[in-house]
Amino acid sequence: MEALKGIRILDMTHVQAGPTCSQLLAWMGADVIKFENPAGDATRGQLRDVPKADSLYFTMLNCNKRSITVNMKTAEGKQVFVDLVKTCDIIMENFGPGVLDRFGFSWEKIRSINPKIVMGSIKGFGSSGPYADFKAYENVAQAMGGAMSTTGVPDGPPFVTGAQIGDSGTGLHLGIGLLAALRQAERTGKGQYVEVAMMDGVMNLCRVKFRDHQRLARGELSEYSVPTYQGMGEVPRAGNDSGGGQLGNAIHCKPHGANDWLYIVVQEAVWSALAKRIGPELGMPELAADPHFATIGERRKNQQLMWTLINKFAEQHTKREMMGILNPLDVPCGPIMSTEDLANDAHVRGRDMWVELDHPERGTWYNVGMPIKLSDSPAVIKRSPLLGEHTDEILKQVLGYDDAKVSTLRQAGAFSVPPKRAA
Ligand SMILES: CC(C)(COP(=O)(O)OP(=O)(O)OC[C@H]1O[C@@H](n2cnc3c(N)ncnc32)[C@H](O)[C@@H]1OP(=O)(O)O)[C@@H](O)C(=O)NCCC(=O)NCCS
Repeated sequence: MEALKGIRILDMTHVQAGPTCSQLLAWMGADVIKFENPAGDATRGQLRDVPKADSLYFTMLNCNKRSITVNMKTAEGKQVFVDLVKTCDIIMENFGPGVLDRFGFSWEKIRSINPKIVMGSIKGFGSSGPYADFKAYENVAQAMGGAMSTTGVPDGPPFVTGAQIGDSGTGLHLGIGLLAALRQAERTGKGQYVEVAMMDGVMNLCRVKFRDHQRLARGELSEYSVPTYQGMGEVPRAGNDSGGGQLGNAIHCKPHGANDWLYIVVQEAVWSALAKRIGPELGMPELAADPHFATIGERRKNQQLMWTLINKFAEQHTKREMMGILNPLDVPCGPIMSTEDLANDAHVRGRDMWVELDHPERGTWYNVGMPIKLSDSPAVIKRSPLLGEHTDEILKQVLGYDDAKVSTLRQAGAFSVPPKRAA
């Protein structure tokens, strides 16, 4: 039995941040009705790889949903919206600031239509504060939430990270908020407004950097491989440093291609075994007893030398060989996996994290699978809907409209893009 069976979601989200959340909820069994502008979620046509087919940008974020197109700029479309609000447990959106208000549907209005409904809203910067009126995309959130200033190397520019922490990260935060509010609504009969700002979500994911920010007031950050000092003020970019209590870094391995790297954490407990294994090959059979590295404090102080030695050892071994050497010694490590590596990885396939799907317009394609594994409710992943594919089905099955009503609404333009006026 699917965990969220019986929960219906009116999903007005678009692009990435909101759809990430509603796709996960759909994979947990919620009936997600993707309520689309008749022109469609803009991502359907963005970064297209197959002419006229929905893009992977869209298909990978909108599986297991039903699509209805409704023109919210018509009175008839608004009536369909109101009827759907009455039948749903959750409504969610990530429009730019003020869009829903301009439709005439503030949170106060929506809760007056259905007092039990939970409303989820993603904005770049939330609904209050000096930045509230601004739009945001992924990298804007990474820039403003602290991620970019702390990613890269001190002398280089700030970098974004490939993990979509601003969009998908915010979607995850929203999912947690929605499920908590849903639980409360079940107890009290009263819904509530759940807001997640992308900037706040990124700050949450940068929590350890704010730990270091405060530590700088008291002294240097001895685990950092780059210079720090008391009173420095801002946390510096620190390359591939571990960011935790243990020393870590990326090591370049044979044959030294773009992704021939291995991330290794030199945990306190493993140094001795590691030094005994690599020392002889480096011509340093006494490395484990070398006072430069005898304690974690010494290793922090001399970490550049330690990384140089480990890199030297890795010159003779591929990243997979390094894994084979280090895992038996209990040294936490992982090869840098490229997208190609992952798409062909037996572990990934075995965990249903690279899922083959079919699509009427694009044929075979792959989606990243469901990362949350529920023992009694495994996700069954189904393709994304075509634009408006389920409009009639939803109007009839969910709202109980008859053919005549659907036809009248259609003629009034409730489900279509208004014709362009002649100039
Ligand atoms: C992502 C973002 C920058 C995109 O901006 P945008 O393309 O201008 O889209 P907006 O959400 O601001 O506006 C959507 C427009 O579509 C219209 N629209 C949406 N659904 C509609 C419907 N069913 N019927 C008619 N019109 C519709 C809206 O009325 C609005 O037009 P308006 O400005 O004339 O009112 C913006 O939505 C945003 O800041 N969202 C919040 C933060 C966020 O989620 N960002 C990450 C996205 S991955």
